[in-house]
Formats: sequence, C-alpha cells, structure tokens
Amino acid sequence: MLENHRFKTVKEEGKIANLELALKENPTKSTIGIGHTRWATHGRPSKQNAHPHASSTVCVVHNGIIENYQELKTKLQKKGVKFLSQTDTEVVPHLIEYHYQKTGDIKKSLSSALEEIHGTLALAVIFKDREDVIAFAKKGSPLILGVGENENYIASDYYAVSAHTNKIIILEDGEFGIVTADSYEIFDSAGKKLKKKVKIMEAENSKISKDGFDHFMLKEIFEQPRVLEETIQAYVNIDNGSTHLPNFPFDLKKINKITIVACGTSYYAGMCAKYLIEEIADTEVEVDIASEFRYRAHPFRSDNLMVFISQSGETADTIAALKYAKSRGQKILSIVNAPHSSMAQLSDAVIRTIAGPEIGVASTKAYTAQIAVLSLFAIELGFLKGKVDKAEKLKLIAQIVEAGAKMNHFFEEENIKNIKKVARYLVKAQHMLYIGRGISQVTAFEAALKLRELSYIDAQGIAAGELKHGTIALIDKKMPVIVIAPSNNLFDKILSNAQEVKARGGKIIFISDKKGIAHFDKMADKKIEIPQLSGIIQEALLPVVSTQLLAYYVALFKGSDVDQPRNLAKSVTVE
Ligand code: AGP
Repeated sequence: MLENHRFKTVKEEGKIANLELALKENPTKSTIGIGHTRWATHGRPSKQNAHPHASSTVCVVHNGIIENYQELKTKLQKKGVKFLSQTDTEVVPHLIEYHYQKTGDIKKSLSSALEEIHGTLALAVIFKDREDVIAFAKKGSPLILGVGENENYIASDYYAVSAHTNKIIILEDGEFGIVTADSYEIFDSAGKKLKKKVKIMEAENSKISKDGFDHFMLKEIFEQPRVLEETIQAYVNIDNGSTHLPNFPFDLKKINKITIVACGTSYYAGMCAKYLIEEIADTEVEVDIASEFRYRAHPFRSDNLMVFISQSGETADTIAALKYAKSRGQKILSIVNAPHSSMAQLSDAVIRTIAGPEIGVASTKAYTAQIAVLSLFAIELGFLKGKVDKAEKLKLIAQIVEAGAKMNHFFEEENIKNIKKVARYLVKAQHMLYIGRGISQVTAFEAALKLRELSYIDAQGIAAGELKHGTIALIDKKMPVIVIAPSNNLFDKILSNAQEVKARGGKIIFISDKKGIAHFDKMADKKIEIPQLSGIIQEALLPVVSTQLLAYYVALFKGSDVDQPRNLAKSVTVE
C-alpha cells in the first residue's frame, strides 16, 4: 500500500488467513494497494521472498517466471543495487526504477523494462511519487482489468474481483497500461493506445460459497449430478436427441486423427476421451502431457485436430503447447471451464464444461464435466462419420443422463459411512496402489493423483496387467491395493490380478458393483459398492466418485488442508 508517499508492506507466510490477520493488525487509510499469493519458483516460501518486492521508489507484484533474471540481477548489482530476496521478481522494481529515474515517465519506463525482461509475467506496479496510479503488464500469465464505480482493479481472473464488479477487460499478451480510480489506458507492446471491449460477466459466477459443506471439495463432489444434468441441458435436445455443440470452423468429418494435450486431472480426462472417441467414433487418438508435448518431434498432420483440456484455461504448460500447435497451423479445439480464459481466446473452437467455479485445488466436478462433454463430442463425431446411428446415439446420450441419477448412490448415508470406514482403515498407510483395466485404468491414475495431492500418501495408479512386470514387488501386508473392478468384459482379468496381489499378502480394497463384489467377497479386506454400470461412458464417470470421496476422507482424517493442499496452486500459471 502507499501512505503519504511511503510504501507500507505487509507480508506473511502460509495461508491467506495469516495475511488477513496481519493486515488487521496494520490498519491503513491508503486507497491504493497491490497483493499476490506467491507460488514459489525461485527461493523457498518465506516472508522475505513473499511479494511485493520494492526498490526505493517502485513496488511490484508478479505472477510468472523471469527467465533472464540472473543476467538482469548482475547488471543491476554492478549499478550498486542490493537484493534482499532469492526471488527472480525482485529485479523488476529495480529495472523499472532505473528507467523511471531517466524518463520520469511511467509508460516509457515500464515499456523499456518489459523490453529487457524475458519470461512470463502478470505485473502490477506502484510508484512512491504517484498515489493515484497502478501500472500493469501481461505476457503469458493471466491478467484482467476490473472496471468499477470510482475504483478499478487489476487481477489474475474474474473471480478475484467478482464481489466488486462484473465488468472486465481481458488483457492479451504484450499489453500493458496504467489505471487510476476512474480511468485506464491500455497499450500494445509497441506502445500504441488500444480501445478494448468491456465484457459484462454472467452474475452467477460471483456466487462462491461452501453452501454448508465443510469444504469446497466435498461440495463440488456432491454437485456432480447437477453438473451432468446441466451439461445435457446445455448441449442436448433431449426430445429428439440432437446435440448442439458449438459450431466448428472446420469439417469434423474430415478429421482422421485427434491429438489431446493437457495436464494433471485434465490429462486423465483426455485419456478417457481416447477410449471414448476410439470406441464411439472409430477415430485415431493420441494423448500427451502438455509439459512434454512441444519438446518432441510430433508429426503434425493436416487432418489432425488438436484438443486442449483445462479447468482453468490458464495452465501455462497447456497454453504453451497450444501456441506451439497453432504456430504449426493446426486446428485448435479447447475444452475449458473458464469461458473467458486465455486458452478460450487462443482457440478456433471452444466447448465449455458446465461445472461452475471449482474452488477446491483438487479437481473433481471439472473432471466429470470434462468427460461428459468429451463423450458428447465423441458421440457427435461418431454420428457425423456414420459410426453410430440415431438409435445408438440416443442410447449413448442416455448413459450420461442415467449417470447423474446413479451418482446419487454415492451420497447415500450408508455409502458415506462405509467410505469413512475404509478411509480410517487406510489413514496410516505410507504407500498405496490403485489398479484398473481398460478405461478404469485411467480412473486408477486419477484416483491415485487425488490421494497424493490431498493426503500426501505416496499412491500410484497402474494398469492391472502391468503389475506382474515389476510393481508387484512392492506388495506386502502393508501395501493397500485399491482394485477398480466394475463387472464388465475385463472383470475376470482384473479378478486374477487381484488374486495375484492377495497371494502376496497385499490388502485389497475392492471397488465394484453388487455382482462383482459377490465374486470377490471373501478375498476383499474392504469393499466399496458402486452402481451397476451400463457402458463405457458410465465406467468413466461413476467409479471415480467413490475414489474422490475416499481421498477426501483420508485427507480429512489425516488433518490435511483439503481445499488448499501444500505446495499446490489451483491454476499453475508458470511453466
Ligand atoms: C488436479 O486436482 C490438480 N489440481 C491439477 O493436476 C490440475 O488438474 C492441473 O494443474 C491442470 O489444471 P487445468 O485443468 O486447470 O489446466
């Protein structure tokens, strides 16, 4: 904050609540301020490395990575600058000050500094001699301008300002500017003044509460039946079974290859899509993690469609892969939950997931929303290519509709009680394995990720058939193995894998439907019953809910911060 031309800085380590307390203890009359929740890239999480970082006259907060910070730091140290933190960001205020002392002009000094900085940034800057101005810049990391009544805001996304205004300007890479309480100027990277459109955001986005649940994550798990229902309402005319996906500026029928790229949970939704599109639309699908995709010699084909999946639409690795594919002339379809995100802006076509704001860092409803939308995409592609006829199309859509109803099974008291019992049984485990076959192999991967990120237990998901090729060496009486085994065409196969584990003393938690459990009753140490599934889409959408609940309760009983697990950010905007 700026008070009587003096910077007033309040920094805290750990949770936002610590900073809220410190701010209460440091009241201020200031009407201008900048703040940042830092995700450590350079220098460990500490008060000293927390933002803002300042020189004697310039103070900044920054989201991103300054790739040439060492070079800039050395140059500035030669000019006598002393650095207090281990961060890359601290070079920025000194660099801007260097140019500001020469020009006394905010616009010139910021654009000169930006020319020297390599890397990604969303930047907010205040100047000691200007109590009415915040300067800002965007390159790679998300940044919006919130237009208020006699007040204006700079923020990473709309949710941050949604309680104050629903009027925003989405900034593009290379843009920078100056905002005051009642005006703003935006320039392109060449310094030319821009006239930017003010977007009026839908009101519902600002309603973000736990609705009486203990955690956002639990609320979001329970929201999934509604998410499926709203997805169908948004994209399907249930009377005649016609689907209304957004128009594609290219002919889907001519697409013979699909390359899906994403990160984390979204990547697993992509893996499910591979099974669904191959089975329903008989079209070749390749899936890759975004942080690797652009560093391999991927042969781009003209009949290929690039599909990028992201809850936030701001994940830096995925955006970088998207820009790379775009630079190679590829057709770009994005599946995003944030319609105004950078990925949506950069894509030829966008299918929005209808999950609503997802606050819990561990993605749950966005995952099933992604699978529902990717299923509709697979069905539409299969129908357009004549691989499925009208009747089959209706049956496939019915799978999604039914899945919503079947999902409520998990929220019945008896089931929650049983999942809590299993969670208590697992809470002391140091390691855990999840196994599955077919599309349930992906559920095993996603389930293990959820448990890892929430409870910090070293959990691995593995294709059940792969177990005997090495990982089975880990099996002993201390190793719980979660077997995801809906009774389908692969049931006998997964049953024998479960028996291999049992034969080596492993503890089995058996996730299956009534019929499946009857087969393995005596062998299972614990059982979690799922509804009878009717088809591959339900196999992707349903068993995962039981694993979300299990991860939630294990983490809860371990005392982890379920909504904000350590070391994680909801949207990873740095590469
Ligand atoms: C999932 O629970 C994690 N939060 C993380 O793996 C996440 O899925 C990943 O960072 C991708 O995020 P995105 O969907 O917003 O791109």
